[in-house]
Amino acid sequence: MSHDHSHSHSHSHSHSHDHARPTWDDATAAVYAEKYGVWPTQMMVVDRLELSDGATVVDVGCGTGATLALVKAKWATAHCVGVDAVAEMVRQARQTLGAEAEVHEARADALPLGDGVADLVLFVNTLHHVDPKTALVEAARVLRPGGRVVVATDEAQYDLASWSNGRVRDELSRARLRGVRQTSAHLNDVVANILTATKRG
Ligand SMILES: C[S@@+](CC[C@H](N)C(=O)[O-])C[C@H]1O[C@@H](n2cnc3c(N)ncnc32)[C@H](O)[C@@H]1O
Repeated sequence: MSHDHSHSHSHSHSHSHDHARPTWDDATAAVYAEKYGVWPTQMMVVDRLELSDGATVVDVGCGTGATLALVKAKWATAHCVGVDAVAEMVRQARQTLGAEAEVHEARADALPLGDGVADLVLFVNTLHHVDPKTALVEAARVLRPGGRVVVATDEAQYDLASWSNGRVRDELSRARLRGVRQTSAHLNDVVANILTATKRG
C-alpha cells in the first residue's frame, strides 16, 4: 500500500500544523477507510500495549475500528469504546466491531464517558487532526488514576522534533499526564512515534 499524503493523513513540516488539518466528513472518511483503514501503526500500538483483564479501552478517532479489533483479538475481556466525530467512520467501525465494542459519534473534546472510567485512551494517528490541548485534557478526565494514554503518530506525518516531541509533550504535561515514555517503532515501511503517559494517582 502506498502512503501518499494527498488525503486525510495531511501533513506539514511547519509548526502551525492546524492549517494542515483536513476537514473530516463522510467523503473524507470513505477515502481514508479505503486507503488506510487497516494500517501498520494500529498493529504497532497494540503489540506494545499491556492490559489487565476487563480493562476499559477508549479509542479516540477510532476510524474504521481496526485498532479496537486488534485489541479484542488479543484481550477478549477488554471493554472497548470507539469514538469518532464522523458518521461514516462510526458506521464502518460498528460494521467492523459488531458487538465487540460500543461506538459513539462524538468529538475528542466531548467524550461521552464519565470521569475516571477508562484504563487506557488511544489516539492512533488522530491527535494531529484534533485540538491536542482539549483532547488530552478530556482524555485525562475519563482516565482513572494510574490509567494511561497512548499517542501514536506516523513519523511521515509530522517530524518528531517539532510536533510529536515538543507539542504533544507540552500538552501531556498540561493535562497532568506524567511519566512520558517514547518509542519509535517500525513495521513494513511505516515508522511510528509512540508516546505513553500516565494519569497521576
Ligand atoms: C487519520 S484518521 C485515524 C483513524 C484511526 N485511529 C486509525 O488509526 O486508522 C483520523 C480520525 O479522526 C477522526 N476525527 C477527526 N476529527 C475528530 C474529532 N474532532 N473528534 C473525534 N474524531 C475526529 C476522523 O473521522 C478519523 O477517523
